[in-house]
Amino acid sequence: NNAVTHRLTVIGTGYLGATHAACMADLGFEVLGLDVDAARIARLAGGDLPFYEPGLPELLRKGLASGRLRFTTSYAEAAEFGDVHFVCVGTPQKAGEYAADMSYVDAAIDALAPLLARPALVVGKSTVPVGTAERLAARLARLAPAGDGAVLAWNPEFLREGFACHDTLHPDRIVVGLPGDAAAAAGAEAALREVYAPMLAGGTPFITADYPTSELVKVSANAFLATKISFINAMAEVCEAAHADVTKLSEALSHDDRIGGKFLGPGLGFGGGCLPKDIRAFMARAGELGADQALTFLREVDEINIRRRIRMVDIARTLLGGSFIGRTVGVLGAAFKPESDDVRDSPALDVAATIHAQGGKVTVYDPQAMANARRAQPSLSFGESALDAARGAHVVLLLTEWAEFREMAPGGLAAAVAERNIVDGRNALDPEVWRAAGWTYRALGRP
Ligand code: UGA
Repeated sequence: NNAVTHRLTVIGTGYLGATHAACMADLGFEVLGLDVDAARIARLAGGDLPFYEPGLPELLRKGLASGRLRFTTSYAEAAEFGDVHFVCVGTPQKAGEYAADMSYVDAAIDALAPLLARPALVVGKSTVPVGTAERLAARLARLAPAGDGAVLAWNPEFLREGFACHDTLHPDRIVVGLPGDAAAAAGAEAALREVYAPMLAGGTPFITADYPTSELVKVSANAFLATKISFINAMAEVCEAAHADVTKLSEALSHDDRIGGKFLGPGLGFGGGCLPKDIRAFMARAGELGADQALTFLREVDEINIRRRIRMVDIARTLLGGSFIGRTVGVLGAAFKPESDDVRDSPALDVAATIHAQGGKVTVYDPQAMANARRAQPSLSFGESALDAARGAHVVLLLTEWAEFREMAPGGLAAAVAERNIVDGRNALDPEVWRAAGWTYRALGRP
């Protein structure tokens, strides 16, 4: 019975922490979630998830009802309650720099450590620059009254937004960075094997490493994924020049299992709270370590990605005869990807804002991200539906490939628009269907 094995705390209740807390409670652990944001904690304690994540509201409410999942703002309560503390706070990009802002991670350790009077395991899950765990372990040892009894492990998380519960409960692998001291490492490994026993029983690989290797697994995974997306988008640029079709190219490449089809979807490129900031923070950290040459290709990956947004705006402007002034643009999608309400570094919202800045009258609709989009870009107009956003449009842009946009019939939209122009930023529509219905269809990387 997990409940008697370990009591867990989860520090930081964003996408990562809220998901981890609810999933661990679902596995039978007693879990206490902590956040310094009292309003967020009040909502979570009331069963109200502050963001959109399919399946998570149900797990949250189930955990609360069972009594196994509770929330607090008190570090004293967390230190008293838990013997394993997961640190899940954010590490956003610093304003005006590539490096990650470590202040939330540092603050969490500084608040928790002085309260650890008895042996405890602190498990970092946040995405951090390599070298952080070593630094935090020293801080923990210095600040914790338990001394050597307070041990740090590093356990990066690979969940995707939109699939957060599935990815947490069915991870591809569990990676654990352990301290150099053999006894401390053995204790930490044993505790984490117990915590993750249900996954390990299902055959999930459990990989132990030193601290820096475990930290690097996380950022190198995201760097690889970003590189794969920018690779296919670079091919899209060449396809545009050569009048070739990148969607066919991608499909043909995907049948080689050494390449594979995942993250080979050409379009407007990557955004969100992870991939863009992680590759930048990785470059910044490599520079500090004197290994910047190893990662100069990531600068190119970033630039290819940003060029897709510029290209999208150019295609739309060209369709309108060279200017957005006095023209109406319907934008479908604001979230950085479907099944999310997250607009952090969203390619869709970036394109919408750029067209607005160039004089277009832009109306945006997204199935889930409207509130966040309004907050991020208050000067844009927002519609109640796809049809509403397209009303009177001289061009419609599909920028986030929600199912309801993919399945849209050209006939329905035709009645709303002023001109039948559509630019498919995610290669989500069938060009033949739209052209047959009298639309001028344009896409990224396709003739
Ligand atoms: C990403 C990683 O996939 C997770 O494994 C990782 O744990 C997470 O970052 C993190 O570091 O926390 P996430 O940001 O939720 O997850 O989103 P992804 O599903 O990776 O999508 C990222 C972006 O790539 C989206 O904007 C998406 O539209 C774009 N994308 C994805 C493409 O443009 N083409 C593709 O073929 C796939």
